[in-house]
Amino acid sequence: MSIAIITGASSGLGRAFCLALKAQRRDISEYWLIARRTERLKELSLLLRPVKVRIFPLDLTLWQSLEAVRNALDKEQPEVALLINNAGFGLLGQVWELSPTRQRDMVSLNCGAVTALTPIALNHMHKGAAVLNVSSIASFAPTPRMSVYCATKSYVTAYTRSLRSELKKRGINALALCPGPMNTEFLPNAGITGQSKTFDRLPKLNPDKVARAALKAAFRGRAVYTPGAFYRLYRLVAKVLPQGLTMTFTKT
Ligand SMILES: NC(=O)c1ccc[n+]([C@@H]2O[C@H](COP(=O)([O-])OP(=O)(O)OC[C@H]3O[C@@H](n4cnc5c(N)ncnc54)[C@H](OP(=O)(O)O)[C@@H]3O)[C@@H](O)[C@H]2O)c1
Repeated sequence: MSIAIITGASSGLGRAFCLALKAQRRDISEYWLIARRTERLKELSLLLRPVKVRIFPLDLTLWQSLEAVRNALDKEQPEVALLINNAGFGLLGQVWELSPTRQRDMVSLNCGAVTALTPIALNHMHKGAAVLNVSSIASFAPTPRMSVYCATKSYVTAYTRSLRSELKKRGINALALCPGPMNTEFLPNAGITGQSKTFDRLPKLNPDKVARAALKAAFRGRAVYTPGAFYRLYRLVAKVLPQGLTMTFTKT
């Protein structure tokens, strides 16, 4: 049995990944979907028919959730063709204004879940498989009022790059997907909608298109994929300018 594990599948980009995968990879016979909202995952599983779906209603900030996935993999012994570490959230605000608990949860989900789930899945992955970690353009430079979110995504991009190098000898690719803003639940949940002139001005990406192209990039062996010419230019600018200067225009 060949499976794909997708975290944060209940909305936005995670949901788009599942639908794109169904169209692109008929050889993957079962999807393991992880998120907290069971009803959403059940609705999605109807759209994914005839692909078999297994629902894991889990909070990935909790260690026991990660153990539940490990136990299911150890019991079923499937071949994991793809792991998409997509679940994540952001928060807009000054570090001292935001809840310390929520900021810690952001690190637990955006970094901790990726860090734990990756080796758990890699124990069941073989040549030709891929790990797709959802990072962000936020990983290119520090962003005031999104300090913790940016730091978590810098972690994801750096982690994925060195993971990819480690995995070369196993014939497995790891891709860091670095999208710009998309109109998903992410923006209102982060308190960004209507609260940031920078975000209001930025071009919005289509999550369905991003998912389709990112899947292709992951299986073609790419290291980092940044959708959209505007954001690829930003990546280049952030690479050459001193961070202090870049931060003058990344203010949210
Ligand atoms: N939208 C953007 O502008 C944007 C830009 C760049 C990068 N990204 C990244 O893209 C990824 C997907 O975000 P999105 O835009 O699709 O936002 P979204 O619609 O809010 O989706 C986030 C997903 O993460 C899940 N999730 C949140 N907390 C969780 C937890 N504690 N345990 C398990 N699952 C949890 C949510 O499911 P439940 O609530 O059901 O648990 C949901 O399925 C994130 O990593 C985000 O950082 C987004």
